[in-house]
Amino acid sequence: MTRTSYLTLDNIYKSYDGLTNAVEDVSIDIRKGEFISFLGPSGSGKTTTLMMIAGFEEPSHGGIMLAGNDLTRTKPWRRNIGMVFQNYALFPHLNVIANVGFPLKMRKRPPAEIAERVKRTLDMVGLSSFAHRLPRELSGGQQQRVALARGLVFDPDVLLLDEPLGALDKNLREHMQFEIKRIHQELGVTMIYVTHDQTEAMSMSDRVAVFNKGRIEHLADPLEIYRYPSTKFVGEFLGDSNFFTGGLAADGTFSADTIGTVRITPAERARVIASRIELLVRPEQLQLIEPGQKDEFNSFDATVRSTVNYGDSLLIMAGLAGQALRLRVRGESQVPAVGSTIRIGFRPEAGRIVPAHP
Ligand SMILES: Nc1ncnc2c1ncn2[C@@H]1O[C@H](COP(=O)(O)OP(=O)(O)O)[C@@H](O)[C@H]1O
Ligand SMILES: [Mg+2]
Repeated sequence: MTRTSYLTLDNIYKSYDGLTNAVEDVSIDIRKGEFISFLGPSGSGKTTTLMMIAGFEEPSHGGIMLAGNDLTRTKPWRRNIGMVFQNYALFPHLNVIANVGFPLKMRKRPPAEIAERVKRTLDMVGLSSFAHRLPRELSGGQQQRVALARGLVFDPDVLLLDEPLGALDKNLREHMQFEIKRIHQELGVTMIYVTHDQTEAMSMSDRVAVFNKGRIEHLADPLEIYRYPSTKFVGEFLGDSNFFTGGLAADGTFSADTIGTVRITPAERARVIASRIELLVRPEQLQLIEPGQKDEFNSFDATVRSTVNYGDSLLIMAGLAGQALRLRVRGESQVPAVGSTIRIGFRPEAGRIVPAHP
């Protein structure tokens, strides 16, 4: 455990059936006040990891520490951890006040304190005028605010949120992302946020843990993951990508199966750990090369297959034998005709070496 770690997961494994691991070798040091996202596809072990932090599941191996105390086998209600679920999980027969006050009642707090804290928390999530309604008299977004208030009302050490906005439409989801970030900043409470939505993880988090098959494949701040994904899986899951398969040539260049010799930086060359590797180039790093333009690029010809003009940017889908390409060009560029040949290039420093799938 590092000195700055507040919540520590130490080498956690979880098997439900004794045969396969739902979570495997997960270790994280989370700082106090940090906003960390667990990002990954369905079935990658995000919820299982959250359930072990909350105490609803016990690790098959490994330990969980919070502020220096071993929590691994502590009952959920003895941990000071709040939880918000995707399906809200509100009590249908209790009004907003009673739903939000429930965790305080469980903790046997005096009624005056409960009333005061519930009021303060409802103010914070903007629900004061709905205090006497039942859950079914609220919209989905309002119900999720109630769930958020219930998770926060007892001043938790950590708030866990499991795909809390998954059931909301896009506009409301973006609005709630801002709200959750505002509350995070206001309270400074440590938050762990599970999502399969990469833009959500990118926009909200101090750090992102990318889960794949029960393991954390990359843990870093969002931009670092975007720029230097640790594996092909991470590069594909976070952001849009082009991949060139190939190997390192004797002269230190990358030899791509489809476009031939590609110059890469010495730093990338040092990352090569296998004979067959992939070179990742983000769509905004590919550019159109004008005839006669000075060749500081790795460049090659391709055929335009389709285009999408977003107004502020142009997406070009192009290709050559065995190689699909996506370019994102900024501004009011001229739209190349489908079927025409374009010259595409990227700077050596735009290429990232990633190992292929194990
Ligand atoms: N209660 C359970 N009993 C048995 N297997 C489970 C249970 N919960 C999850 N799993 C399995 O564990 C793996 C990880 O699931 P989960 O943690 O829910 O992933 P995620 O939240 O990333 O979608 C999956 O293979 C899933 O089927
Ligand atoms: Mg889940």
